[in-house]
Amino acid sequence: MGIEQFLKESAREVDEFIESHLPSGGIPPRLLEAMHYGAVGGGKKIRASLLFATAEAYGVERKALLPLAAGIEMIHTFSLVHDDLPCMDNDDYRRGKPSMHRAFGEAMGVLVGDALLVEGLSLFMNDGGFVNSFGTEQTLRMAQVILKALGGEGMVGGQVLDLEYQGKGVTENEVYRIYSMKTARFIQAPVVCGGIAGRADQKERDALAEFGLKLGVCFQIKDDLLDVTQESSVLGKTAGKDIKQDKATLVKIKGLETTEKVLQDEFEQAVTLLSSLGRSFERLLEIAHFIVERRY
Ligand code: IPE
Ligand code: IPE
Ligand code: MG
Ligand code: MG
Ligand code: MG
Repeated sequence: MGIEQFLKESAREVDEFIESHLPSGGIPPRLLEAMHYGAVGGGKKIRASLLFATAEAYGVERKALLPLAAGIEMIHTFSLVHDDLPCMDNDDYRRGKPSMHRAFGEAMGVLVGDALLVEGLSLFMNDGGFVNSFGTEQTLRMAQVILKALGGEGMVGGQVLDLEYQGKGVTENEVYRIYSMKTARFIQAPVVCGGIAGRADQKERDALAEFGLKLGVCFQIKDDLLDVTQESSVLGKTAGKDIKQDKATLVKIKGLETTEKVLQDEFEQAVTLLSSLGRSFERLLEIAHFIVERRY
């Protein structure tokens, strides 16, 4: 199976899982509709694929991981819905359609984000089959990794810094810190969870964590490059926003050409980290390549 096919297949399975496991009884229909609008049928589902691909190297089947993969993608959707709000990046267009608050109003934009976060965690933590397959201890470990990646030292903290540095001077180190926190930690999390699911030893988990963080930084560098070089219609989100909003990006302080070089450099370092492990991570490497070569 080629990488594009692998990603497509993962996305389809995750979509199906979310669709059939969204909470139904008792939930206000409009909230359910908004959850569906945000989380099903859009996005690359790259974080789910990273989980599948890492675990595959340890012989763990993707079916067993679906509750976690789907939960991670619901949580990621929460971060995007809030990122688009008028008080944040004020973006009208997401995944090829009006962003959540444009379609459902601002209050629902806030609340559906909350719901996607909570229900995303609940999806795997309350799934008896999942907890049975991996055990309570490993399930707890995975939840801890996800929570750490999301909190004040992770995505949320990074989003705060992203806003604080908007319109201000920023150093290279500060940009790296923002990238690591707002994006890389939640790219790292599914890679580390894949290792936990595969019962990787501590040394391997540390190496996977280092790789995942570097790959996450590459992911945001590429996102920032695409914001400048790609059309909105291909991205499915508004291009050219970072310059307009004077966001803290590497492109802003180094220019396009140097940023492309930095990306290559970081990518090579990431690949070296992965090859230092005495195990074949073929699929994971393919996704890493996709991340830096993608057009959307
Ligand atoms: C976009 O993430 C937000 C960033 C962290 C840069 P993705 O590029 O993974 O968005 P979707 O899920 O494919 O829409
Ligand atoms: C968002 O970064 C990172 C998140 C934690 C959601 P961006 O603001 O660059 O993401 P896009 O370009 O809107 O998808
Ligand atoms: Mg943002
Ligand atoms: Mg944004
Ligand atoms: Mg962006």
